[in-house]
Amino acid sequence: MSARILEGSVFARQFRDDAGRRAGVLRETYGITPGLAVIIVGSNPASEVYVRNKHKACEELGIYSEVIAMPEETTKEQLLARIDELNLNPRIHGILVQLPLPDQIAAHEAEILNRIDPAKDVDGFHPVNVGRLVTGEPGLVPCTPAGCIRMLELAGVPLDGQRAVVIGRSNIVGKPMLHLLLAKNATVTICHSHTRNLASIAREADILVAAVGRPRFVTADMVKPGAAVVDVGINRIAPKKLVGDVDFESVREVAGAITPVPGGVGLLTVAMLMQNVVQAAEMQRK
Ligand code: GUN
Repeated sequence: MSARILEGSVFARQFRDDAGRRAGVLRETYGITPGLAVIIVGSNPASEVYVRNKHKACEELGIYSEVIAMPEETTKEQLLARIDELNLNPRIHGILVQLPLPDQIAAHEAEILNRIDPAKDVDGFHPVNVGRLVTGEPGLVPCTPAGCIRMLELAGVPLDGQRAVVIGRSNIVGKPMLHLLLAKNATVTICHSHTRNLASIAREADILVAAVGRPRFVTADMVKPGAAVVDVGINRIAPKKLVGDVDFESVREVAGAITPVPGGVGLLTVAMLMQNVVQAAEMQRK
């Protein structure tokens, strides 16, 4: 039997509609237009596409958007000064520094991201927001894992009491995913490059999340029949060919549900960012 395909566009539409509706409530009831500032340093072509997509999504939903393009040779001090201004700017409710940063400031990434006011940290990367996620307090959660959990819930995939395995332990996806799944009462295992018997652990999963950044790493023999498989990978294997961390064609024959690449999780991230901007504006009003 072939798996149900979880189309990212279907869920992204719902997240965007909800963000647009809540932005409308803020505007009409309280006179607040939610605002996002995206800082991009240098000219990474992939980053430029992502930033344009974020700006377009804001325009579509009536969210104020500023893109701040800074030159490649920007110093840490100049970038910190720009963040300080945005922290104080009342039109801006969310601040995002697009990653990766150019080499000369990449080593200071943590210091730079930690300068963002946690209330405006729509990436959910600030240690205050990481701490809130771990302790279960309300806060801003990284967009991609938050979108995956919301998608699974909307798709009717049970999480409570289920075995979940996350392959990958990044701060952006793997670790927040662990805490979000735990908060939904799943039993969670994280696998990574040092894990022994990874395939047999993966095979125990009712929910299998792949976020390793290795093309087609998850093969059919690593998947329990009927499992929900969430593919967070985006790997370019040829100029016009993107594949995920999951070998889609073989795994779809075993899984119960699966996200495609492209057209899956990738579409959720910008939609969830819109949710985070609106959430930040709602929280700052209180
Ligand atoms: N670059 C790639 N993904 C992301 C993300 O989620 N946030 C930021 N700030 N930069 C990125």
